[in-house]
Amino acid sequence: CLVAWTHAAWAQFPDKPVTLVVPFAAGGPSDKIARDLAEALRKPLGQTVIVDNTAGAGGTIGAARVARAKPDGYTLLVHHIGLATAPALYKKLPYNTLADFEYLGLINDAPSVLIGRTTLAANNLGELRKWIAESDGRVNLANAGVGSASHLCGLMLQNALKSKMTTVPYKGTAPAMTDLIGGQVDLMCEQATNAVPQIEGKKVKVFGVSSTDRLALPALAQTPTPTLAEAGLPGFNVTVWHGLYAPRGTPPEVLARLNAALRAALKDPDLIKRQEALGLRIVTDARLAPSGHKAFVQAEMERWTQVIKDSGETAE
Ligand code: MLT
Repeated sequence: CLVAWTHAAWAQFPDKPVTLVVPFAAGGPSDKIARDLAEALRKPLGQTVIVDNTAGAGGTIGAARVARAKPDGYTLLVHHIGLATAPALYKKLPYNTLADFEYLGLINDAPSVLIGRTTLAANNLGELRKWIAESDGRVNLANAGVGSASHLCGLMLQNALKSKMTTVPYKGTAPAMTDLIGGQVDLMCEQATNAVPQIEGKKVKVFGVSSTDRLALPALAQTPTPTLAEAGLPGFNVTVWHGLYAPRGTPPEVLARLNAALRAALKDPDLIKRQEALGLRIVTDARLAPSGHKAFVQAEMERWTQVIKDSGETAE
């Protein structure tokens, strides 16, 4: 009868609001994606879905909060590639990326864009790399902390340019963007989600896209943007992805309900339109299933651990 009781108890899930934890400051790309998803999850879950930011340490503080949360399906994590890179960047990570989470499905893939303050003299990657070489490390490169997507892209950039820069960490790329627009920092490798509107508004200079395909967006019609690979960094390819996670031990009935709700939310035409207008690609492949999602993250973890080790970046 216990099994029947358990099944009946979870059959009502969710019977109170569900929280999506975002491990970065409000207003950043991860926050925007989570708020978009929260809106689209309301209908399939039949419940209020709220977003709560727990920023710091490149997203690892927010991830740890969900890893420790009650496994009842009411506290979920929206996180990106940082879940796969943090193990190579932190000696004492307060969670295990593969063992401490239930994988609910991948949400989207997003390119990043190398952007700079408008007062930079350089107008293309060739001129930029010359200025960086002459600046002897005094280039201020903003990111959202060790383990963030902007940190990873910045690391790959420094490796490709063979030049160390001064990194300036923030609690998210939203506050970093404010300083970049204000000219307090020089460069940032920001996800297209937040970079595209600023490029369109001519608030920042753009030097290249981090993925292998160009960003063919109406918003960038005035500013054709090459990929960093074609602009002079052959093989450069950083694609940021976002997934949805629950704490390990969340009941299977709840996991199935959440994965079904995610699938329904990602079919929401308004969500698709909004995200594609910013260069995001909604996941429709096997990575939408928990098994495919977990296999993908494991492969990414192995790949980026090797790349980070080869880059000589030491773990915190
Ligand atoms: C990142 O660099 O990891 C993200 O852009 C952080 C954020 O969403 O603020």
